[in-house]
Amino acid sequence: MSHGGGLEAIERILNGGGGDAEVLQEVVDVLHDRFEHYSWVGIYLVEGDDLVLGAWNGPEATDHVRIPVGQGVCGAAAASGETEIVDDVNADPRYLACFPSTRSEIVVPIAREGTVVGEIDIDSDRPAAFGEDDRAFLERVALLVSPYCH
Ligand code: SME
Repeated sequence: MSHGGGLEAIERILNGGGGDAEVLQEVVDVLHDRFEHYSWVGIYLVEGDDLVLGAWNGPEATDHVRIPVGQGVCGAAAASGETEIVDDVNADPRYLACFPSTRSEIVVPIAREGTVVGEIDIDSDRPAAFGEDDRAFLERVALLVSPYCH
């Protein structure tokens, strides 16, 4: 699906109402199901000094359900508030391995009123799967879902 179509699908979810957890799960499901190179999709929420996994969709659960801010690619993005794109996870010393099939990763912080409250983490089985179009799209998604991250 196109990124524009993805945004429309996400706007429909947000307009449909529902509780925070339900909305975040539906958004994760759309991202996973409609974008072929999004192999595993999760939303982590900031809890104190940790990132705690909330909604996710993918072939397998991850052991990394709680990641200290500052650790891993996820923790780096949360600490800086900047999107991280890793073209080759095996070449990045920060990378915390979840799935043997993962080749590349994007982590997009979700901020509210200047504070990081969560992040979208996507693993791809394809090397260098994430480009500027994914960054722009997912940063827009992060803005849209920020009111649902508590
Ligand atoms: N790879 C992440 C950990 C989370 S899993 O990808 C689901 C990291 O390096 O922080």
